[in-house]
Amino acid sequence: MLAVAVLAAGKGTRMKSALPKVLQPLAGATLVERVLGSCHLLAPDRQLMVVGHQAERVEQTLSRVKGLEFVLQEPQNGTGHAVQQLLEPLADFKGELLVLNGDVPLLRPETLEKLLTTHRKGGAAVTLLSARLADPSGYGRVFADWTGQVNAIVEHRDCDAEQRRNDLTNAGIYCFDWPKLAAVLPKLSTDNDQGELYLTDTIALLRPAMHLEVIDPNEVAGINDRQQLAHCEGVLQERLRRHWMTEGVSFIDPASCTLSEDTRFGRDVLVEPQCHFRGATTVGDGCRIGPGCLIEDSHLGAEVEVIHSVLRDSSVAPGCVIGPFAQLRAGTHLEEGCRIGNFVEVKNSRLGEGCKANHLSYLGDADLGAEVNVGAGTITANFDGVHKHRTVIGGGSKTGANSVLVAPITLGEGVTVGAGSTLTKDVPAGALALGRARQLVKENWSAPAPRQEQGVAG
Ligand code: UD1
Ligand code: CA
Repeated sequence: MLAVAVLAAGKGTRMKSALPKVLQPLAGATLVERVLGSCHLLAPDRQLMVVGHQAERVEQTLSRVKGLEFVLQEPQNGTGHAVQQLLEPLADFKGELLVLNGDVPLLRPETLEKLLTTHRKGGAAVTLLSARLADPSGYGRVFADWTGQVNAIVEHRDCDAEQRRNDLTNAGIYCFDWPKLAAVLPKLSTDNDQGELYLTDTIALLRPAMHLEVIDPNEVAGINDRQQLAHCEGVLQERLRRHWMTEGVSFIDPASCTLSEDTRFGRDVLVEPQCHFRGATTVGDGCRIGPGCLIEDSHLGAEVEVIHSVLRDSSVAPGCVIGPFAQLRAGTHLEEGCRIGNFVEVKNSRLGEGCKANHLSYLGDADLGAEVNVGAGTITANFDGVHKHRTVIGGGSKTGANSVLVAPITLGEGVTVGAGSTLTKDVPAGALALGRARQLVKENWSAPAPRQEQGVAG
């Protein structure tokens, strides 16, 4: 039997944030979601989460995780106190308890698996992950002998100068024999610099205690402040880019691009510098993205080109060309081969196959049939100050430059709108619609002579 407990009750004072530390985002997922995700190979029988500071917010974030048991720690009196809260829910539990600090987000699932097998083979009362760090400051130090037996863990702030020279650090990831841990948990004391109950103090009370050193110290990087958050973001981004490069994506300047955990790419995608993919974005085979794009929660079919543009909550069918300087906002659906050019904004609209809006337009709450040519500066006036209304433009229609379509309005198929028109009424299929003042020409007209100024102006 295996239970996993994540410690996520702390405030994270050093983050100086209104958000609890474990809810800080990292490459599109919160720290605590990442920690939970690192357990996915283990198939634990029980999953518990110790919450305290802003407990409701943490619970809400994780409400979709099935079978997760929340345990309240109130007040938060240290990691040992957090684990003491498990004594009741795990009263009848016999088996291993894997304890994970909620602020160690880069752990690989394979490493946890290895910790568990090492623990099971070694028959220790506890096996913990350790790492040798170039800069161990802030971490608890692991004092172990050459056989891998751990005598004690001493927190950085409780170490003397000699002890601080030990670069073997505690990762905050432990596999305990639960009944043995449960027996020593009540013995913890607050006799330390912070006056808290330390989970690390149980190590000296458990025999044998073993450690498993991780090879890549980045894996066990804990996040206490924003510098460490930025460091972990960098490590994750590097991992994500490397993964997608092995899957057939080319980055011209990888370090200038950021991805999210849920970004998916097809083959032969070319990503130019300064492109950022967020949320659940998918990019089809052969797309060329960038330079300079932000694409969030959007789906791009094959062979789409996007240059210097922002796309959010949109779907783009194969062969579309977007930008430079276009914005697709939420609810935009482009069918195959559309062309959205510079300074064009599209929102909550569907454009049929082969539509073109090449310059300076706003299409909001609009439905366009296939092959509509949207003239430069065409605007759908969708908002009457209170409500949003839809504009419908039939297939094959053309709007002249600087047309304003005042919604609600429907243009049938094959309509032509004269340049400079403001249309407020529906137009039947095949018609030409003009809605502008007639041009007035006064021939042989001479401008009035400038007035002669008299005296001193004042
Ligand atoms: C802890 C370890 C340290 C280790 C380091 C690794 C202890 C005493 N020290 O120190 O040896 O090197 O992690 O990153 O355990 N939490 C609670 N309730 C509390 C306090 C904390 O749930 O009352 C949670 C926090 O939300 C956090 C985790 O426990 O997710 C670790 O707490 P933190 O205060 O960050 O411990 P460190 O000082 O980093
Ligand atoms: Ca920490």
